[in-house]
Amino acid sequence: MPMPVIPLDDQHWALTTPGSTYVIGVVIDPETGEAAPRQTYWGPRLGPEAARQVTDLPRRHLSSFSTPAEVEELLPVDGGKRWGAPSLQVAFGHVRSVELRFVRSEVRDEGDGAERLDLVLADAHHPFEVVLSVRVRADTDVIERWTTVRTGTDAAVTRLDSGNWFVPDADAYRYSGVFGAWAEESQLQRGPLPVGELVFTSRQGITSHIANPWIMIDAGETTEEHGEVWGLALAWSGSWRLTTTHRPEGGVSVSGGFGHDGVRWTLAPGEELVTPPVLGLYTDGGFGAASRAWHEYARLHVLPTPAEERPVLYNSWEATTFAVTEAHQLALAKTAASIGVELFVMDDGWFGRRDDDTTSLGDWFPHRERFPEGLRSMFDGIRDLGMSTGLWVEPEGLSKESELYRAHPDWALHLEHRRRDEKRQQLVLNFAREDVREWAVGWLDGLVTELDLDYLKWDMNRPFTQAGWPEKEQSQDRIWIEHTRGVYQVMARLRERHPGLRIESCSGGGGRVDLGILRYTDEVWPSDNTDARDRQHIQHGFSQLYPASAMSAWVTDTPNPTTRRTMPLRYRFHVAMAGVLGIGGNLAEWTSGELEAAAELIAQYKHVRATVQHGRQYRLAGTPGAERSAVQYVHGDQVAVLVYNPLGNAKRAPRRLRLTGLDPEAQYELERDGSRWYGATLMAAGIRPAAWEPIGPDYRSELVVFRKV
Ligand code: DGJ
Repeated sequence: MPMPVIPLDDQHWALTTPGSTYVIGVVIDPETGEAAPRQTYWGPRLGPEAARQVTDLPRRHLSSFSTPAEVEELLPVDGGKRWGAPSLQVAFGHVRSVELRFVRSEVRDEGDGAERLDLVLADAHHPFEVVLSVRVRADTDVIERWTTVRTGTDAAVTRLDSGNWFVPDADAYRYSGVFGAWAEESQLQRGPLPVGELVFTSRQGITSHIANPWIMIDAGETTEEHGEVWGLALAWSGSWRLTTTHRPEGGVSVSGGFGHDGVRWTLAPGEELVTPPVLGLYTDGGFGAASRAWHEYARLHVLPTPAEERPVLYNSWEATTFAVTEAHQLALAKTAASIGVELFVMDDGWFGRRDDDTTSLGDWFPHRERFPEGLRSMFDGIRDLGMSTGLWVEPEGLSKESELYRAHPDWALHLEHRRRDEKRQQLVLNFAREDVREWAVGWLDGLVTELDLDYLKWDMNRPFTQAGWPEKEQSQDRIWIEHTRGVYQVMARLRERHPGLRIESCSGGGGRVDLGILRYTDEVWPSDNTDARDRQHIQHGFSQLYPASAMSAWVTDTPNPTTRRTMPLRYRFHVAMAGVLGIGGNLAEWTSGELEAAAELIAQYKHVRATVQHGRQYRLAGTPGAERSAVQYVHGDQVAVLVYNPLGNAKRAPRRLRLTGLDPEAQYELERDGSRWYGATLMAAGIRPAAWEPIGPDYRSELVVFRKV
């Protein structure tokens, strides 16, 4: 197998993945000696000779008034003759400027088909080293990049991106990304990329509901199954920024990294700062192939337990909100177990004096009136029903009205001489502090051990504002990065102590969904909006980057508590079956007919669960906004298709559904009636799902399953 990093000459390298090539080199200005590591090529895979030729291509002439060529640099600095968006901005005393010299390159075999290239550079005057790292792997087209700076002098870093990526020339550019708000996260937007700088960012200390840290660029003609896509994603769960520059002269670059504008990281001599990875993916198979490549990357290199099938869970939040009691939870658990639920999770309300959201975050002991004997007997009762157990926690949350805040007011993120405003009646604990992390590991470990928990739903309901750490004076801005690292560390230590423990990431719905948190958590809660119709849009956006095995999805009550929309049980199930199925409704009020239908649908889900969670996902005809839509999953010999028709008498949309990703020569047996069809027929002519017939009630849906013969 050819090595992924191929040196082309002393200063150029071709980095190869199964389907792409990335050529980079260090250009040294003959007059000034300044070194600028630059991207020469990123696109379809090239052989070494072709890659070498790429480095000989003449560079375009730019007038001195044009945007400089720094958009093609791997890490354009604020310094030299540049004025574009910098990926690295550092001040040494009063001088905010970096001038780099090339020091050396290093190629390392990291095993398992991964190779890493480090380009080491140093400032021409100050003892300040910058290392650009690139990792390519033999099993994915996703390329990982990150940056390290080390200093021998005082330096104030105001921007340190993980990397800048250049998207080759095209006649036009289009961007795709997801945006939203609470209860409407992950709304896919796709549109022409305006000339100028376009910034997607979070200044919230969490990933945010507003935007998600990825972007995909295409030349305007790419479809779900055809065309080139260049995608970038940042594996980070705190504040972040992706700056896309579309030059008027042509060419687009995207620089991505942690922190947001104004955050200042001061480094003392001997200190270093390492960024999280920014990931780049090229594919020529359309948006669908891009998503499948991201999903596969998450399975191979991000998720902690990708081989497992996630259990069907029950969560008490929508049924009981804060009013949890042992008797009521056990009653819900009994019904849940009877319909096939495998994991029972008690949500908010079990601790301190938590009767509503005004108090008790920080007081992680059982609510004395509701659970006078503690929680153990309730969880034992749940285990006796044959289910595993989980509990809601919000370790970073802090209520002013709590014993913890009275004891440690300094543990809250705060600024000297500034108010401590609350949001959702709470503050945020400073996880950059070691004592806070020790405290968190201590009580979480105790809770998991004492109650024998299998699962934690880790929530976070307070974006940062007025965030600081006054005792740290100069370096108090560090909390914007150290807090997130602290959360990662606590999760990692907890998992180390409890290898069987699984964690769900929640942040008031989908406020912390990213490839950083997915390294420490097994699934995420995409939104507090459980309305199946809204959820289809959220899931469509979610699936662009993240796999179904990480997407928790509950069936809740009708009318939906958030939107008041009424929808059939079957439709609600079929939408939630597109991810990790859960039940979040008040089972005490479901009729026996509904419970029977639910049991049947849960059994059907279990039949296709491995395919949905681990299979290749194809978003078939229609976005969820269309009259009819469908999502297909292929895994081993099984093909599962979830078909939706929300508008019953829709007449115009297609009535035939063409499958994809099948073996054209093979025969596929339709499980429902045993009929056999060639893959070629299913892909070229398609099927005619009953749910797609033109006249009928609203919200029809079905699950169609084939087995390859
Ligand atoms: C916000 C979460 O998104 C909900 O699912 C629920 O856990 C509440 N917090 C509890 O306060």
